[in-house]
Amino acid sequence: MTEPSVRTATASPRRARRLLPVLACLAATAVVLGISGGSSAAEEVTPGRQSTAERTPDELVTAGRALFATGCVSCHGVDGRGQDTPDGSLRGPTLEEAGEAGAYYQLTTGRMPLANPGDTPQRKEPAYAPDEIDALVAYVSTLGDGPELPDVDIAAGDLAEGGELYRNNCQACHSATGAGGALSYGRAAPPLAAATPTQVGAAMRSGPEPMPRFGPDLLDQEELNSVARYVQYLGDPDDRGGLSLGRLGPIPEGFMIWVGGLGLLLVAAYWMGERRDTAETVDPVPPGESDAEGDPGTEGVDAGGNASLARAESRGREEEP
Ligand code: HEC
Ligand code: HEC
Repeated sequence: MTEPSVRTATASPRRARRLLPVLACLAATAVVLGISGGSSAAEEVTPGRQSTAERTPDELVTAGRALFATGCVSCHGVDGRGQDTPDGSLRGPTLEEAGEAGAYYQLTTGRMPLANPGDTPQRKEPAYAPDEIDALVAYVSTLGDGPELPDVDIAAGDLAEGGELYRNNCQACHSATGAGGALSYGRAAPPLAAATPTQVGAAMRSGPEPMPRFGPDLLDQEELNSVARYVQYLGDPDDRGGLSLGRLGPIPEGFMIWVGGLGLLLVAAYWMGERRDTAETVDPVPPGESDAEGDPGTEGVDAGGNASLARAESRGREEEP
C-alpha cells in the first residue's frame, strides 16, 4: 500500500527519501499520543441540581414517576418494589433502599437503565437528560428511606486527610492511583478519574454492589469532602512529568508501549530494507517501459517476469568480483 509513494520517492533526490522514515516515525508517535489523549479528554458534564429550581418538588416527583413507569418498571416493578421473572429469578432489585444517592449514582454514570437484567452495570453516557435525571432521582427518593445525595464541597476538604482515608478505605479495590482493578470476587472496581465529586459522594453513600456503603456514621460530611477532594486530585492530570497516558494503568500503558514501540521498529526495519534496495532501485527502466512489458497479451506476464529476472541476474553478475 505504501508502494506508490516509495516509488515516487525513489525518483526524487535522496534527501526526500531520508525524510520519509522521519515522517513515518512522527506519524506513529502522533497516533500513539492521539489514542492516549482521547481517553483523558473524555470529561463529562454531569447534571447539576440547579435546573430543578423552576419545578416544585411535587412536580418533579410526578415527572419522575412517569419516566419510571416507561423506563424502569419492567425490571424494578411497580413502585420500585422489585420484580421477579416468571421463573423466579430477579429482574431488578427493590429500590426502597437506593435513595437519592443511589439513583443519582446509577443514572448520572449511565449505569441505569440496564439493557438486560443479567448485564453488569457499566459507566457510559447517561440515557436521560439532566432534568429527567433530577425527576427520576426525586421519585426514587420517595420509595423508601435510602441515603440522601450529599452536598460535596471539595474546597472544604483536606487533601492530606483525604489521602489517608482513601488509603484506608478505597485503595484496596480502586488501587493507589484510582485506576481501579480486578477484585478477587464480584465485578472489577472501576477507575475513578471520570467521577465528579458529587458522584464520588453518591457512590460512598449508596454503596453500589459490591462496594461497601460509607454512611455518615463511618465517614462524616467533612471526611467525605476530603475523600472526594483526594479522588479529584488523583484524577487531575496535575502532571508530575513524563508522558501522561490518561492514567490508564499499567496494563494499557504497557500495551501502548508495545504497539508504539513495535510500530517504530517496523518502520525502522522497513526503512533499512529500502535503503539496501536504493542502489538497485535507481532503475534504468523508466516506469513507462515496464508498463509496456506488462502488456497483458498472451505471453505478456511471462515476458515481464523473465525480463526482471534477467535484470536481477545481470546485477548479481556485476556485483561479483
Ligand atoms: C433491564 C432491567 C433494568 C432496567 C430497565 C432498569 N434497571 Fe435498575 N437495576 C437492574 C438490576 C439488575 C440492578 C442490580 C444491578 C447490580 O448488579 O448491581 C439494578 C440496580 C438499580 C439501582 C441500585 C439499587 C440499589 O439498591 O443500590 C438503582 C438505583 C436503579 N437500578 C435504578 C433504575 C432506574 C431509575 C431505572 C430506570 C431509568 C432502572 N434502574 C432501569 C435492572 C434494571
Ligand atoms: C470492596 C471494594 C471497593 C471498595 C472498598 C470501594 N469501592 Fe468504590 N467501587 C467498587 C466497585 C465494584 C464499583 C462499581 C460498582 C458498580 O458497578 O456500580 C465501585 C464504584 C465506585 C465509583 C464509581 C466510579 C465511576 O465513575 O464509574 C466511585 C466514585 C467509587 N467507587 C469510589 C469509592 C471510594 C471513594 C471508596 C472509599 C471511600 C470506595 N469506592 C471503596 C468497589 C469498591
